[in-house]
Amino acid sequence: MPVIVAIDGPSGTGKSSTSKAVAAQLGLSYLDTGAQYRAITWWMVTNGIDTADPFAIASAAGKPEIVSGTDPEKPAITVDGIDVSGPIREQDVTSKVSAVSAVPEVRTRITELQRAIAGSAVTGIVVEGRDIGTTVLPDADLKVFLTASPEARAARRSGELEGADLHATREALVKRDAADSSRKTSPLAKADDAVEVDTTDLTLQQVIECVVTLVEEKRAGR
Ligand code: DC
Repeated sequence: MPVIVAIDGPSGTGKSSTSKAVAAQLGLSYLDTGAQYRAITWWMVTNGIDTADPFAIASAAGKPEIVSGTDPEKPAITVDGIDVSGPIREQDVTSKVSAVSAVPEVRTRITELQRAIAGSAVTGIVVEGRDIGTTVLPDADLKVFLTASPEARAARRSGELEGADLHATREALVKRDAADSSRKTSPLAKADDAVEVDTTDLTLQQVIECVVTLVEEKRAGR
């Protein structure tokens, strides 16, 4: 039986690094759902859609063709055949992705893609995001919710971005979390049956080991 693992939480909790490593270690597929929301945002920006206008976003939501790679070693993503793995991490996309991903038509479209990918994973899949355990895959075999203090999360994000200012990174991150947590349609939230792991004082290796153990326990029926 394929094993379905949902890993949710705000940015800077080590979600991506943990999810990729757990998938690679256990021979599972991997899906970065944040990359899908970034990809649709990139398409809106590139095509001159006003990202402050939810109606414009809603009517364009079905247009781009988004294809997500599920190899944890090289999770590329394309939009209309263009590899956007680099451009989706740029500041312009990051600052607009919360507004685009709050539009219900966008969420319906992306959720359908996510369910189709998870449903076709042969050995199983680790899916990381904000609403995977609550909305996208409520029947996942294991749900993990990663947290960390805003200071620890900002420090990790600043470390990833060259020349980033710690204070500005913290402010931007707290603002994006607030937008993602307060939106009406499937906000960032912990599922009731998710295991919460506070990563503030843990190394990445410790978080990976913790999640691998949780998956193995589930597989063993414990
Ligand atoms: O994980 P990330 O920072 O790349 O995600 C980018 C944005 O995408 C995040 O601010 C909120 C949105 N997102 C979402 O709404 N639902 C998800 N399942 C994943 C991401």
